[in-house]
Amino acid sequence: MSLLQTTDLTVRFGGVVANDSVNIRVEEGQVVGLIGPNGAGKTTFIDAITGYVASTGGIEVDGANIRALKPHQRVAKGLVRTFQSLELFEDLSVEDNLLVAAQPARWYDTILDMLYLSRVPAAVRKRVDDALELVGLSHVRSQSPSNLSQGQRKLVGVARALAAKPRLVLMDEPAAGLDTAESYELGQKMRTLPASGVSVFLIDHDMGLVLGICDYLYVLDFGSVIAEGSPVEIRSNPKVIQAYLGESAGTIREAATQALAQTENIQP
Ligand SMILES: Nc1ncnc2c1ncn2[C@@H]1O[C@H](COP(=O)(O)OP(=O)(O)OP(=O)(O)O)[C@@H](O)[C@H]1O
Ligand SMILES: [Mg+2]
Repeated sequence: MSLLQTTDLTVRFGGVVANDSVNIRVEEGQVVGLIGPNGAGKTTFIDAITGYVASTGGIEVDGANIRALKPHQRVAKGLVRTFQSLELFEDLSVEDNLLVAAQPARWYDTILDMLYLSRVPAAVRKRVDDALELVGLSHVRSQSPSNLSQGQRKLVGVARALAAKPRLVLMDEPAAGLDTAESYELGQKMRTLPASGVSVFLIDHDMGLVLGICDYLYVLDFGSVIAEGSPVEIRSNPKVIQAYLGESAGTIREAATQALAQTENIQP
């Protein structure tokens, strides 16, 4: 049974069919990627899975339909997302940015207690410690996010999602704005997540990153899945190359070649 499975998932915005009968599966322990040109419907897919937009079709976690669940109830099922536009609380330390996410059910009631009266339960503290450790930010935990590099800020966003103890983390362009080295670093961190019980669903335009770390990939174009397969299958798929021609002719092939050269270094 799949960790996540959608069946004919469809999202309409007026006349626009942003997701058109999308069938995607994520197995436990996998890193699965979703790529596609701008406006293809990638963010919409994560919005639909996590309950931020209305959809039709099936959304199953461990074979059980979660359609009726509200966003916070889906978090409780282990589906935790990051956002394409990263919002950090600049007046809080890195650590406190994670603490506010680590215990979503008590967000409003106890935030002041948690932050200022040191009543953080040990289990929550450990989740935050583990998340910081996993992304390599333990040494900057007391700093304000505004002191960090863009790459580190992105990692705070990833760590914040991990602090909620997801079974599946859905990341919307975590590498946007990162340079090649930072993106590579982030990829290496993501590749270690399945070993700690966190499966990954990744949207990104960095083909090197996506083709380098994903076990399986889906390609979305105009709301429909036009291809799926392993990175090796995807990089040579004519439909995929065609879908990307408009915005970046040839880059997918170049990126794929580079990614494959790096794959041995990234994969465990
Ligand atoms: N809230 C909304 N209301 C109306 N149309 C929307 C809404 N959100 C997205 N759309 C439209 O749905 C389509 C898919 O958008 P979406 O943001 O999911 O694409 P994307 O693949 O994430 O693009 P990008 O790579 O630029 O982030 C686009 O045509 C977009 O204009
Ligand atoms: Mg998007």
